[in-house]
Amino acid sequence: MPEQPPHEIIIASTEEEVQQCYQVRIDVFHHEQRFPLDTEIDYLDPIATHFLLRLTPSLTPIGVIRGSRSPSTGSYKLSRLAVLKEYRQYHFGRKLVEALHAWIKADAQQSGGQTTSGSVRVVCHSQIPVKGFYAK
Ligand SMILES: CC(C)(COP(=O)(O)OP(=O)(O)OC[C@H]1O[C@@H](n2cnc3c(N)ncnc32)[C@H](O)[C@@H]1OP(=O)(O)O)[C@@H](O)C(=O)NCCC(=O)NCCS
Repeated sequence: MPEQPPHEIIIASTEEEVQQCYQVRIDVFHHEQRFPLDTEIDYLDPIATHFLLRLTPSLTPIGVIRGSRSPSTGSYKLSRLAVLKEYRQYHFGRKLVEALHAWIKADAQQSGGQTTSGSVRVVCHSQIPVKGFYAK
């Protein structure tokens, strides 16, 4: 693996940071992968927690992931994971998933979202070419 450029992962807490998350998604899912623009922002966005990976010290946004908890089932959802093309294979995707896992653990403990066995259900729909990434 090439050496990771200096970076940080934050939870987007301002409108500007949330917009930066949307922009990374639009670059990857719309411009690169040709998914329609009008379905990119969906019903989960207003209730989701948005993670932003950015280079330091420039604070250039380069990656995102989104986590949400279903109020009805208590299960969590991982969605909209994306790393800009020129920053792939640095293990940034893995780091974003790990950051989301840590947040889910903390959130489940706080909100009583765990099952009696102490586990939490996390769902994720994968694009077929990315199944190998999620398997790892
Ligand atoms: C999927 C994505 C986020 C992976 O990001 P990344 O930073 O390149 O991945 P990582 O470097 O963290 O990869 C972690 C491991 O998974 C492997 N991997 C990465 N992409 C893979 C793929 N498509 N298939 C199989 N393995 C993959 C890496 O080789 C690495 O293996 P290693 O631990 O043995 O070195 C990135 O390719 C992306 O943004 N793709 C476009 C958007 C997309 O498809 N999002 C997912 C929608 S379901």
